Amino acid sequence: MRFDVITLFPGIFQGPLQESLLNKAQEKGLLLINVHNLRDWCHDKHKTADDSPYGGGPGMVMKPEPLTEAIETVKNLRSNVKVIFLSPKGRVFTQDIAKELAAEKELILICGRYEGIDERVRESLVDDEISIGDYVLNGGEIPALVLIETISRLIPGVVGDEQSVIQDSFYSGLLDHPHYTRPAEFKGMKVPAVLLNGNHQEVDKWRRKMALLHTLRIRPDLLKIIDLSKEDRKLLEEAVQSPDLQLKSES
Ligand SMILES: C[S@@+](CC[C@H](N)C(=O)[O-])C[C@H]1O[C@@H](n2cnc3c(N)ncnc32)[C@H](O)[C@@H]1O
Repeated sequence: MRFDVITLFPGIFQGPLQESLLNKAQEKGLLLINVHNLRDWCHDKHKTADDSPYGGGPGMVMKPEPLTEAIETVKNLRSNVKVIFLSPKGRVFTQDIAKELAAEKELILICGRYEGIDERVRESLVDDEISIGDYVLNGGEIPALVLIETISRLIPGVVGDEQSVIQDSFYSGLLDHPHYTRPAEFKGMKVPAVLLNGNHQEVDKWRRKMALLHTLRIRPDLLKIIDLSKEDRKLLEEAVQSPDLQLKSES
């Protein structure tokens, strides 16, 4: 999959894209990520990318000419490339939107700064606006990295064990179950016995029960939008009634 990012601060991408799984995925050719400096399309002596807002008021606005030229150049006549503007006014990013975008071959990500971009660029060239949550950051660079990393995890081969992606929180609508590793006892706290007895059916049942319970306790809104099977409902009822399965915050 190919990502083209248009930003005034390309340096922000250096660390995150050169480490760990994202770096390996680029080395393996699974991802092509081009970070473009918007200043390359600012043609005046001072390489100006912003100007004061019409109508007055605080802040600056990203000028339409450099952005338009940048998007058109990067698109390079490919009509099927989706242009996404990272914006707090966009639809809020979720795992389902990540799945939807992972089906694309290429995405162009526009990182705003200041008060945002000139509205005419948004109207004429942007296909989708995405927010990473109901809060405001200084710029779209970190939101763009959030999209790149989340979408990349869904591309086969990027994460070593694809099962782990499928079992992650949100993938099938629930939060993930708790995880433990050695030692079996740490500071007096024991790993649940069911995880030590080698019975995989029992382990799966316990994990499903814990995923259901955690979701009910922490994100009950998620349970309203997924179809629980009869077996799930039974597990959840058992979990709710079990005095051993309280969350730390409830004990
Ligand atoms: C300071 S913000 C501008 C906020 C804008 N004036 C507003 O209130 O909607 C500058 C840029 O950061 C990015 N940004 C800030 N918060 C974001 C969020 N929650 N999701 C995605 N992008 C965000 C956008 O690209 C935005 O244009």
